[in-house]
Amino acid sequence: MRMSELQFPPRPTALAQDLLRPLIAAGDLVIDATAGNGHDTLFLAECVGATGRVLAFDVQAAALAAAGKLLGDAGFSDRVSFFQESHGNMEAHAAVESVNVIMFNLGYLPGEDHALTTEMSETLVALEAATSLLKSGGVLSVVCYPGHPAGAIEADAVERWLSAKTAGGWRVAKYGAVGTRRPAPYLLVGWKR
Ligand SMILES: C[S@@+](CC[C@H](N)C(=O)[O-])C[C@H]1O[C@@H](n2cnc3c(N)ncnc32)[C@H](O)[C@@H]1O
Repeated sequence: MRMSELQFPPRPTALAQDLLRPLIAAGDLVIDATAGNGHDTLFLAECVGATGRVLAFDVQAAALAAAGKLLGDAGFSDRVSFFQESHGNMEAHAAVESVNVIMFNLGYLPGEDHALTTEMSETLVALEAATSLLKSGGVLSVVCYPGHPAGAIEADAVERWLSAKTAGGWRVAKYGAVGTRRPAPYLLVGWKR
């Protein structure tokens, strides 16, 4: 294949799925912390199979309706529990150290109310919750959008929060385009040891 036929650099959302796919096994418990239109929820439901479970969170009814339809059309409704709740509440729905993978895709839902965006302080609460829910060996992915002022502040806070996890033995990586006119979205990945 030629580079001209590829999406390059890869979109961070696609890269997150490519990195996580081989790490998720049938029967796993996983979380989509920002369900939105359900693209990551669908990806996770495919990965965990009929014996696995996906917990999916969003604060917007419109998002959960769209995601629910997508999963229903795919025949995966019985693998997913949707919660119209903040991801900051995820600890109420899973046991400590029971979750294999947790995905966050920050920002707002394209086409919907841009005011309903993820918010730095709540994102950090949710990341702490995610830390306690992840198994040892589990993986956290976060797609960040530094292209607008609030997104840049949130992205920077998340990157600093995740970088600090290396002191506790986590391995952390950052992937994204450089040299763009506006700061490009990027993917952070953390492996809990
Ligand atoms: C970029 S969109 C997610 C896109 C989604 N992953 C997809 O594939 O369509 C971010 C989502 O986060 C949701 N959100 C904002 N604050 C939230 C919170 N505190 N808890 C859970 N979801 C939240 C928004 O409603 C929005 O749907």
